[in-house]
Amino acid sequence: MKNLPVLLNTDKKSCLIVGGGKVGTRRAKLMSQTSLKIDLISKKSSGSITKIIAMSGGTSYERSWRPDDIKDNYIFIVAATDDHGVNREISVRARELGIPVNVASDSSLSDIAFPSIIDRDPITIAVSSGTASPILARSLADRIDSLIPSGYGRLAQLVGKYRQLVNETIADPCRKKSFWQRILGGHVAESIFSGNPDTAENLFLESLKNAPQDAGTGEVYLIGAGPGDPDLLTFKAYRLLQQSEIILYDRLVSPRILDQINPDTEMIYVGKKRADHALPQQDINQKLVDYALGGKRVARLKGGDPFIFGRGGEEIELLAQNQIPFQVVPGITAASGCAAYSGIPLTHRDHAQSVRFVTGQLKDGSVDLPWDQLVSPDQTVVIYMGLVGLPIIAENLVKNGLDPGTPAAMIEQGTMLDQKVHCSTIAELPDVVAKASVQAPTLLIIGSVVSLHDSLNWFGPPTLDS
Ligand SMILES: C[S@@+](CC[C@H](N)C(=O)[O-])C[C@H]1O[C@@H](n2cnc3c(N)ncnc32)[C@H](O)[C@@H]1O
Repeated sequence: MKNLPVLLNTDKKSCLIVGGGKVGTRRAKLMSQTSLKIDLISKKSSGSITKIIAMSGGTSYERSWRPDDIKDNYIFIVAATDDHGVNREISVRARELGIPVNVASDSSLSDIAFPSIIDRDPITIAVSSGTASPILARSLADRIDSLIPSGYGRLAQLVGKYRQLVNETIADPCRKKSFWQRILGGHVAESIFSGNPDTAENLFLESLKNAPQDAGTGEVYLIGAGPGDPDLLTFKAYRLLQQSEIILYDRLVSPRILDQINPDTEMIYVGKKRADHALPQQDINQKLVDYALGGKRVARLKGGDPFIFGRGGEEIELLAQNQIPFQVVPGITAASGCAAYSGIPLTHRDHAQSVRFVTGQLKDGSVDLPWDQLVSPDQTVVIYMGLVGLPIIAENLVKNGLDPGTPAAMIEQGTMLDQKVHCSTIAELPDVVAKASVQAPTLLIIGSVVSLHDSLNWFGPPTLDS
């Protein structure tokens, strides 16, 4: 390691920037997030940098630099003029006085470098590539940034506030470690991340009160995995999956999403197919309760969105009755995913002013829908679980007044690499689908918006039109 990352305490300290152009302004912006007093020397400078300087309590001098500007009351100097010779002279002078210097355009003249920063004050994460590639460092920092909830700083503040009290309350180092693990990976942290700092503080104090004798209650995350493409998983879903100890997952969760899960996590398949239930719903509900009462962090991972034809509501009812903390993480529902990936906007000013999501399969396996409400010409109808019932659905819609020429699409394996879109009219789609030996999951979209697919399709192989 050629460079040693250290953190500078900026309290009551000053620094100097020479050059008020783009680079100088960028540096000033970064420094203004600290308590540094910033002085600026620049022949010309923009309004934005002089404002930053004033707000930091420093002074802007509109002139060329002079050697006696470099004084040892500055903890570092930034040479950011557009004249390389001047930057070199500043660097030489600063080094003579033993003051660290940064020259943006020349690392050989620099003693310090400014990394890309992820700011979750009081937590700071710095990423640097040395001199290799600031763009690479920035893009890595952006990735880390997206994985760390914005509430991390508030979590650190809470921990800092009670650290001493925890040390006084829990003497045993092992118990103390497991207490902190529960706090940082459990519902205290999650309450902060979801914007409930008061709840978090109460839960923290409650946990601390019970800490000497308590093994801790777990919690449950009801997570929507989206329709299949792993890139459609939300950041929150991904984070909670990584911190779960047990995951109960459905048939519709795509293998490419399961591949992303830590191999040490216990995985329990509870999937359902038509008339083939790996585990009855009540048993799934009860398992969630049992694991959580045993102190585990449990993820219940479901395809699409858990609150859209996902029975998510039933699963959390029992948790609520048992006062088990839980969170619901929405997912991209099949209708949104399939529509987007097949270039069929669900609403469109020229085609449809409303959209209806209905299920093509009732509890008893029959299809009995409010047909007269589904035949309006300026409405899009999206039918989940409509593959088996397609002939009955098409027949009843036409019988109730829908134009038999209305465009309709059956989207097979939506958003996945082998997605297929079968387009036809509602009258002919059952035949088209029967001939294509279509594989579930499939989603049926009916309405004039389907005609846009020809021009808006952007994903995957060509369409299988009738
Ligand atoms: C029990 S429902 C669950 C819906 C899920 N909660 C959601 O929000 O997408 C299952 C139905 O969703 C539809 N579905 C889910 N994923 C799909 C996909 N990738 N492509 C097409 N349809 C899908 C199918 O109609 C499937 O039968």
